[in-house]
Amino acid sequence: MNELTITGATGFSRILEGFPFSGLSDFLPHKNLIILTDDHLSSLYLERFPEARVIVLPHGEQSKDLSTLETCYLKLLEFGADRDTFILGIGGGVICDITGFVASTFMRGLSFGFVPTSLLAQVDASLGGKNGVNLKKIKNMVGVFRHPEIVFCDPAFLTTLPEKEFLSGLTEVVKHALIYDIEYYHWLQENWDAICNLDTTSLNKMIWRSIQIKKEVVEKDEKEEGLRRILNFGHTFGHAIELVHGFTHGESVAYGILVAVYISLKEALLQESSATEISTFIETSGLLNKQPLKGSEICKIFRTDKKRTGTRIQFVLLSKIGRTTVIKLEQDMLEKYFIDWLNDFNQIRS
Ligand SMILES: NC(=O)c1ccc[n+]([C@@H]2O[C@H](COP(=O)([O-])OP(=O)(O)OC[C@H]3O[C@@H](n4cnc5c(N)ncnc54)[C@H](O)[C@@H]3O)[C@@H](O)[C@H]2O)c1
Repeated sequence: MNELTITGATGFSRILEGFPFSGLSDFLPHKNLIILTDDHLSSLYLERFPEARVIVLPHGEQSKDLSTLETCYLKLLEFGADRDTFILGIGGGVICDITGFVASTFMRGLSFGFVPTSLLAQVDASLGGKNGVNLKKIKNMVGVFRHPEIVFCDPAFLTTLPEKEFLSGLTEVVKHALIYDIEYYHWLQENWDAICNLDTTSLNKMIWRSIQIKKEVVEKDEKEEGLRRILNFGHTFGHAIELVHGFTHGESVAYGILVAVYISLKEALLQESSATEISTFIETSGLLNKQPLKGSEICKIFRTDKKRTGTRIQFVLLSKIGRTTVIKLEQDMLEKYFIDWLNDFNQIRS
């Protein structure tokens, strides 16, 4: 069992990893407890939840919108929530984001915590104090920075997580290793089968290392003004691919990582041997969705990204495995790199 704290300007989180869910109540504050979850988690685990009022939302990204917030606020009123209420989100990244946002805004802020149940939530979404919801189709456009008081992470939840969702979370794990820790990267390669077979020791070790990496990055740059941007590695094209193809986040980012590795090579930052090694690993690891990519549609979405200003884009590249460099590149240049990469990729596959 592992424990650390993540400290930020808006508070600090106590992160508990490898603790059994059955012991959760010992760590919760003695306040009125309201649980926020989704219908998948409630159907699997409701009897094991601590005693509380429960708000059950439909599962999936479509719940992460403004109308869901209103539903939650009204439920909180109905349940008589007051400043003495603690809101606990039990679920994947969607539930963590909604819980953090609702708790941070209802009555100008209630205390809250997470039990992340997907791998993506355990290694990423539950950590670092970002809580956002979507505005129409624009991802995470409305949000707040506020840290959960407690994050209670039990890898046993992963036994019921669909395999596709597990692999999606694994992409973020590989990303952590690539941007921060070469030894972790090699350990992942060596233990890949055990991890995919949900070996408890390997999962605990992996989740713990990823939590440590996220802590180190967000504590140095909570508001994403510098270092935290490295967590966006693979996400620039990943987001466009996710929008065009509807692949899982991880499947999309895995492609985004391949593109970023290719650009790192072409910009003479990364050695060819490292680029080949990473690409081979990603292509054989089961992280990619093998449907053919629609290059021109991806470029179109990439060009119209509503969150972007100007024509130069800060792009996270690798200078070696475990080290990043952030450079500004012209949008046209990035598109050209993407098309060149896609041509190479399709040629190798055919
Ligand atoms: N705030 C942040 O810092 C941050 C970081 C990364 C991602 N996110 C957000 O996280 C979201 C994605 O998270 P996600 O991939 O966990 O998606 P998700 O919350 O939609 O969960 C994926 C699916 O798995 C199901 N599920 C979760 N845990 C389960 C379990 N143990 N057993 C059975 N089913 C389970 C869910 O019901 C859902 O259907 C996105 O909205 C993304 O924007 C936020």
